[in-house]
Amino acid sequence: MDTFEAIKQRRAVKHYDPNHKLTDDEVNKMLSLAVLSPTSFNMQNWRFVVIKDSEIRKQIRAAAWDQAQVTDASVLIVICADLKAWKDNPGQYWKDAPKEAQEFLVSAMGPFYDGKEELQRDEAMRSCGIASQTIMLTAKSMGYDSNPMIGFDPKKVAEIIKLPENHVISMLMAIGKQTKPAMPRGGQLPLDKVVFTDKFS
Ligand SMILES: Cc1cc2nc3c(=O)[nH]c(=O)nc-3n(C[C@H](O)[C@H](O)[C@H](O)COP(=O)(O)O)c2cc1C
Repeated sequence: MDTFEAIKQRRAVKHYDPNHKLTDDEVNKMLSLAVLSPTSFNMQNWRFVVIKDSEIRKQIRAAAWDQAQVTDASVLIVICADLKAWKDNPGQYWKDAPKEAQEFLVSAMGPFYDGKEELQRDEAMRSCGIASQTIMLTAKSMGYDSNPMIGFDPKKVAEIIKLPENHVISMLMAIGKQTKPAMPRGGQLPLDKVVFTDKFS
């Protein structure tokens, strides 16, 4: 599917065929494309927890306002990030880069993020947001639908998935075969309300 079409056709779909499952190959294809998403300093700070176990799905649904997509979609991915990826052997993010670029970038990462907790969290959410959109557009291109979700109790879901220290959950992502289309779009703001030239005023 053409990228423009995938963007136009992607909608947050809430109703899924509970009998349909994505194959491991399909999930791997989606995630192999997701990891091509850009991250600051190429730190690849996202972590994707693919929930296969139906019992765990039920537990997450209970922690997610009983939203049916959580158990009915073909796959559920908890999109997380490692807040400290920037200091986890940073050379690994540049191992294939030219030597001069490697030296500069690897040594710049630490000072850029060290002690800046808010920036570390911002970076986590930026990376996860971009990767999530890659996943949603890939799903659409493969003939599936998706629903990004923040309607859940993050502490409870963290316990269920045994979220490691220094990690955060960005969102849940349900992907599957829709049984009912999304409701008509809520309505987009006009461009002149959200686009500015040079300055806000
Ligand atoms: C970060 C994020 C969290 C969301 N959380 C939920 C959710 O918990 N439950 C839900 O039904 N939809 C959720 N949505 C879907 C939005 O309501 C939907 O994207 C928005 O209304 C625009 O509709 P569209 O995606 O079909 O264009 C979420 C979307 C985003 C981006």
